[in-house]
Amino acid sequence: MSRAKRKLDHIEYALSDKQSGKTGFDEVVIVHQSLPDRSVNDVSLHSEVGGLLLSSPFFINAMTGGGGEKTSEINASLARAAKETGIALSVGSQMSAIKDKQERHTYQVVRKENPDGLIFGNIGSEATVSQAIEAAEMIEADALQIHLNVIQELAMPEGDRAFNGALERIARISDELPIPVIVKETGFGISSEAAVKLNETSIAAIDAGGYGGTNFSSIENNRQERKKLFFNEWGIPTAASIVETAAVTNKDVLASGGIHKSSDVLKSLLLGASAAGIAGSFLRILTEQGEKQLVEEIKFFQDDLIMMMTALGCKTVADLKHIPVVLTGNLYHWLNVRGFS
Ligand code: FNR
Repeated sequence: MSRAKRKLDHIEYALSDKQSGKTGFDEVVIVHQSLPDRSVNDVSLHSEVGGLLLSSPFFINAMTGGGGEKTSEINASLARAAKETGIALSVGSQMSAIKDKQERHTYQVVRKENPDGLIFGNIGSEATVSQAIEAAEMIEADALQIHLNVIQELAMPEGDRAFNGALERIARISDELPIPVIVKETGFGISSEAAVKLNETSIAAIDAGGYGGTNFSSIENNRQERKKLFFNEWGIPTAASIVETAAVTNKDVLASGGIHKSSDVLKSLLLGASAAGIAGSFLRILTEQGEKQLVEEIKFFQDDLIMMMTALGCKTVADLKHIPVVLTGNLYHWLNVRGFS
C-alpha cells in the first residue's frame, strides 16, 4: 500500500473509530475554591514549553501531510485556524516528504498560511540527525516533535519490527538541533520508566501521549484482516501518564490523548502539564463542521480556561500545578500501585 493511501486511510479511520474514552480525566475531581480573590482580567493563558512562549496552554497536535491535495487542504485549514486563535500547531510525520520531495508542499503550506505562528515539525524516532534537521528546515519549525509509535508499527503488517537505538538517536538529534525537541507518545502513554530514560537526554519536553483517545491499534485492526486485538486495550491512561511523567522528569511535560473538552485541558495542567495537544477531536470538527467552527471551538476553549482559572484563583498556567485535586477510581488505584499517589 502506498504511503499516501495509508495517510488518507488513517484520517478516515481515525474519524470513524470509536474511542474508549478511558483517559482517566473523569477520575480527576477539582477541589472548588470559594474565595479565589481574582477577576477574569487577572488571568493569563500564556505557558512556556521548551523556552517557547505559547499564548494558550493547548495546541493542535501532529496529524497529517504527505497524502496529496487532501492532506494539504487539511493542513492549510489547521494553520489558518491556529493563526486566527494564536495557538501552536504541529504537522504530521515529515518522513514522507524527506523521502519524496514532491510531498513537501503539503507540509510547507502550514508555514505559508501561518508565517509567524509557532509550528512544530514531526519525525519518528527512526530518523537520523540529518533527516531531523531537514524536517525542521522544511517548515522553519520552532520545535521538533519526535514521535514514539511502537504499537502502531507492530499493528501494521508493513510496519517496523526493530526498535533498537531509539533513545540514542533522540539524544543525538536533540544535541544537534538548534530548536527544542519534544518527544511524544502517540496514544499509548509514557511510563515513568521511559520518562527517566528520556530525562537523561537534552530534550526540552515530554508529551505523555496517553491512552483513551485516538487509538492507532484499533485503527490498524479495522484496516487489516490479521487483527492484533491484544493491542487495542494496551496503554497508559492519559491522566496516569501525565502524573507518571511529571513525577520523574525536570523537562516540561505535555499532555495528549483523548483531550476533547476544555476541562480535560485544565485537568492536564492541574496534573503537571504545561500544555495539552489535541488531534482527533479538532480534526473531527474541521472535517464535519468546517474551519469556522474549529476556530469557534478553539475560542470557546480559551474562554472556558479563563473562567475555570478565575474560579480556582489562578493567574497563570503555572499556578494551576499547586491547586489540589482528588484522584478517584482506577486512576487512584493505578497511581497508588505505581507509587505516585
Ligand atoms: C495522528 N497522530 C500522529 N502523531 C505523530 O506524532 N505523527 C503523525 O504523523 C501522526 N498522524 C496522525 C494522523 C491522524 C489522522 C491522527 C488522528 C493522529 C497522533 C496524534 O498526534 C496524537 O498523538 C493521537 O492522535 C492522540 O491524540 P488525540 O487524537 O486523542 O487527541
